[in-house]
Amino acid sequence: MSTIEEEFIATVSHELRTPLTSIRGFSQTLLNSWDKIKDEDKKKFIGIIEEQSNRLIHLVENILMVSKTNAESQILKKVNVNKIIENVVTLIKSQYKNHKYELQLMNNLPPALLDEDKLQQILTNLVDNASKYSDAGKSVYISTQIFKNLICIKVKDEGIGIKPEDYDKLFKKFSRLENHLTSKTQGNGLGLYITKELVEKMNGKISFTSSESGSIFEVLFPIYSEEEALKCSQAS
Ligand SMILES: Nc1ncnc2c1ncn2[C@@H]1O[C@H](COP(=O)(O)OP(=O)(O)O)[C@@H](O)[C@H]1O
Ligand SMILES: [Mg+2]
Repeated sequence: MSTIEEEFIATVSHELRTPLTSIRGFSQTLLNSWDKIKDEDKKKFIGIIEEQSNRLIHLVENILMVSKTNAESQILKKVNVNKIIENVVTLIKSQYKNHKYELQLMNNLPPALLDEDKLQQILTNLVDNASKYSDAGKSVYISTQIFKNLICIKVKDEGIGIKPEDYDKLFKKFSRLENHLTSKTQGNGLGLYITKELVEKMNGKISFTSSESGSIFEVLFPIYSEEEALKCSQAS
């Protein structure tokens, strides 16, 4: 086994053990001392068990996504990027009811040759981060435009920003940055790692700029002509 694989397994084991230990601990306490625990504490403990289970589910889904990303071949199809953005925003809006979402989508955006599920995953990660790392009441702006022969998708937030010394940690596996919102929110630091892998797998590029008043993540995908599109889809 390579050192990278060993490191990955060590990190995953740690990430899995933390919520599992807490679920087991609180379940044992409830089972062994049910009659002695006050109702409000019971409710609190069950709440923790639920929260940690959600954390585990999310983590397992993400780990599966990492191995899928490495192994899977992709189905490139003509995708209406604006439509996918609208779907993703509708879903995320329901989780962040106090954020505002502003779409600036280019009319008649040509379809891009992409894997629809992967694009959905990329956008979900970026819009989720933009929401999670900004305070309630702030806006998230999502735009599409054409730049030369590229489709450019931007996700801009008014959040806490990313410190220059953290730039090289951002896209690494399991890396979460130190700030007040990261410690208050759930996450496993796999989102941006997966996002970058997915973008690059579809011949795209991801970059970001950030300051104290927020961050902008930009994703570029090539637009192919009908002819090139046909060739690509036959090849994949
Ligand atoms: N839009 C953003 N603004 C500020 N910090 C961000 C933003 N997106 C990501 N980060 C930081 O980068 C870390 C890694 O992001 P990600 O891989 O999506 O993991 P997760 O969201 O699960 O913590 C986050 O924990 C957070 O600290
Ligand atoms: Mg994330």
